Amino acid sequence: MDCVLTNARIMTCDPNRPGLGMIDRGAIGIADGKVVWVAEGMVATDDPEIDLGGQLVTPGLVDCHTHAIFAGDRANEFAMRAAGKSYLEIAAAGGGIQATLGPTRARTDAELIALTRSRLTAARAHGTTTIEVKSGYDLTIEGELRLLRCIARAADVSTPRVVPTLLCHVIPAECRDDRDGYVRELCESLIQEVAYHDLATSADVYCDEGAFTLDETRAILTAAKRAGLGVRAHVGQFRDLGGAELVAELGGLSVDHLEQVSDTGIATLAKAGTVAVMLPGACVQLRLPVPPVDKLRRAGVPMAIATDCNPGSSYSESLPLQLWLATTHFGMTVEEAWLGVTRHAARALAVDGGVIAPGARADITIWKCSDPAEVPYHYGANLVDGTYRLTDSGWQPPAGRSVR
Ligand code: NIG
Ligand code: FE
Repeated sequence: MDCVLTNARIMTCDPNRPGLGMIDRGAIGIADGKVVWVAEGMVATDDPEIDLGGQLVTPGLVDCHTHAIFAGDRANEFAMRAAGKSYLEIAAAGGGIQATLGPTRARTDAELIALTRSRLTAARAHGTTTIEVKSGYDLTIEGELRLLRCIARAADVSTPRVVPTLLCHVIPAECRDDRDGYVRELCESLIQEVAYHDLATSADVYCDEGAFTLDETRAILTAAKRAGLGVRAHVGQFRDLGGAELVAELGGLSVDHLEQVSDTGIATLAKAGTVAVMLPGACVQLRLPVPPVDKLRRAGVPMAIATDCNPGSSYSESLPLQLWLATTHFGMTVEEAWLGVTRHAARALAVDGGVIAPGARADITIWKCSDPAEVPYHYGANLVDGTYRLTDSGWQPPAGRSVR
């Protein structure tokens, strides 16, 4: 073994074990950046060893929904909402997504990469080892391609692994009189370029009031699927337009937000195995009703949880904070919440990760506590002790950890 982590409280999230797959005292053997074995009890080894003294060890967290590439800020909108204005009112008055376009378009590639990398590094410090990043704050064809190229370049050994997504966010103001023309350009040009140059693994459409209609979403996601991209959508944040049913019908990976979703929508998600991504930070901040967690649970829809890190509705890189909101505000159990930021989040992205089991990538987060409930319980404190991650240049242990 290259390294053995011993004397650890391991949350494996292994689907072959019940619940979170907890091992109260155990060890993990790692070689070539992969988990080779997971053992219960005390293990004697001649391999390089890290004794964790009973600390909690979990899969590296997976943040499956962020808009982490943008410039500028919208703190003014935060203040307006705190004073009682709604997200849609602020957007109609020239705020919202449109207000982030100018600052983002004005930055050079190097500036955007630096801004994004600083957010990715912050996410890693909060335990994230895989992060999805969507384009979406340029909206021109060339500009969206540029954002995706910058997202790829923002990733390095200090950041989480990055999974890029093409987001068809809204119709830009300059195209409002020709919505069909813009949607055609997305389908015939942008999606084709993205797929050809391998710039994203999936496409996401914001299907809601003030964004894309259901028919437009269908056209875009059908083109994306044909081009070999995974299919995802922001649905029902404000109004249920039938996006959940559409994504399920297309065999999509995830539907995200879901404050508004019908019983039929839930049933079709369950049947298709599509992941429901909960975004409690955005929900609470916009004072929206809570998604129907109990119905989703009873239908057997896998639930993930993400930060939605963006300059408008949820400026946070912290998944532990989302664990807190999911358990205190969404009615999710501690177990559901942890699966939501590990195994189920990896499934929403169709990537490996989110489990500690033989053969899995050795992306691991170590915590300054031993009980999984302590992370949401002690909210706002950063209990992350370190993260390990498989990178292109090998397995990277956290700084300051001694192996003996
Ligand atoms: O997921 N709902 C659409 N997009 C983002 C918000 C983007 C913004 O306000 O800049 C979201 O919440
Ligand atoms: Fe979002």
